[in-house]
Amino acid sequence: VNNVSLDVIILAAGVGSRMNSDLPKALQQIASKPMLTHLIDTALNLNPNNIHIVVGHLADQIKNKYAEQTLNNSTQKINFVMQSKQLGTAHAVKQAMPYVKSDLVLVLYADVPLIKLDTLHSLVALSTKQSLALLTVKLDNPTGYGRIIRNNSDQIIAIVEHKDANQDELTINEVNTGILATHTHKLHKWLDQVNNNNSQQEYYLTDIVNFAKQDNYAINGIILNNDLQVQGANNKAQLVMLERYYQQTKAQELLQNGVTLYDDKRIDIRGNLTTGKDVSIDINCIFIGNVSIGSSVTIEAGCIIKDSVIGDNCLIKANSNLEGAIIASNVSCGPFARIRQGTKLHNNVKVGNFVEIKKAELHEGVKAGHLSYLGDAIIGKNSNIGAGTISCNYDGTNKHQTIIGDNNFIGSNTSLVAPVELKNNVTIAAGSVITKNVPKNNLAVARSRQSNISNWKNNKD
Ligand code: UD1
Ligand code: CA
Repeated sequence: VNNVSLDVIILAAGVGSRMNSDLPKALQQIASKPMLTHLIDTALNLNPNNIHIVVGHLADQIKNKYAEQTLNNSTQKINFVMQSKQLGTAHAVKQAMPYVKSDLVLVLYADVPLIKLDTLHSLVALSTKQSLALLTVKLDNPTGYGRIIRNNSDQIIAIVEHKDANQDELTINEVNTGILATHTHKLHKWLDQVNNNNSQQEYYLTDIVNFAKQDNYAINGIILNNDLQVQGANNKAQLVMLERYYQQTKAQELLQNGVTLYDDKRIDIRGNLTTGKDVSIDINCIFIGNVSIGSSVTIEAGCIIKDSVIGDNCLIKANSNLEGAIIASNVSCGPFARIRQGTKLHNNVKVGNFVEIKKAELHEGVKAGHLSYLGDAIIGKNSNIGAGTISCNYDGTNKHQTIIGDNNFIGSNTSLVAPVELKNNVTIAAGSVITKNVPKNNLAVARSRQSNISNWKNNKD
């Protein structure tokens, strides 16, 4: 927000016992990404000077997680603050305040991970005036939340925690999300005024509303309606609710970009998926990490695609599994293809069912239609790999290369014992075990000859 500096405080000290997990609550995942990382990523988009994360329970686990990981190269912005005893939300925020150097503070919660950037922008903008900006939400069932008390002129005058509320107050369905933004120097002052004279003997952050009023600060609310972006995740049931909400949001983004989905509820995106024009995705596909798909690509049902690039006009048939693959244009894969790390498929390659490819480059027009393992291999243009061809790349200790030239015809059930090289225009007879290099234009036969023995008495006689 124009020339006003911002720090973000994220509260993550709580126990999270209802998750029934050894993992700290803040590290529970949505779309394979810790809740805290979701928040940090969103917060970084506000371009704050610093992000202060208040940790307590399992603090080391949380800190280690981010020590080993570079968050958009912005780890230097992240400051962990220890709250050894969880004495309440005001106490938690107070621990971070000595490190806050900006004009404004925004308070977020590690267990409310899917708050939208737009909402936070609005809230921070609202707080720039002489104002305490609160994010509230109207809920059909407000049980457990702090209730927003407004006067006759609809101004917020207090927040009353559920456990401290009277019968009238309990009927109020506008509640506190906890998320707020205000001026740093005032927040310092108000936090010093908070005491723990309440039913939970906690220092409530919500009590600053009273002190803000006394200082003639406006209390401005942004009201949401039954909105899952402020839904907290205290247990696995709420976590899966947020997972579905997140996936629904991702699916809608794809639809907006013109992707055809057979079912927007049966696709999962755990990372970043970019798509060209006229991409169509059948049900139960999972996209993991960074996946980029070109135009006019069809992904059939049940594919799992991780950290891969797929060019234009490709067809990924049902139940294929791609990981770390780079695929050019007009390529067809599967059904049941397994394309592993370090594989490069050039234009017009066809990979059929039950073919596993690892660390291999298949040049233009290569066909490997059925039941093969091609690992540590280079295969030249327009070569045909027969059914059941195996590159024997491993001798028990080391991996070795198989190099196949252009226009080879590898007969079915061939074993290529690496290291081995086949030059251009080679034909391998079916059933061969190839242990020696083959010169260009040669036929290699490496199997015992068939002998037919006449007048054999078989045991059916
Ligand atoms: C809080 C609000 C309540 C609001 C609700 C929304 C207060 C007093 N109440 O209640 O008005 O409706 O959130 O979910 O603020 N935390 C710490 N250190 C502490 C205490 C809490 O880091 O000492 C963290 C927790 O890990 C959690 C968050 O702050 O992420 C909220 O704490 P919690 O105890 O769940 O607050 P509520 O009682 O739900
Ligand atoms: Ca509590």
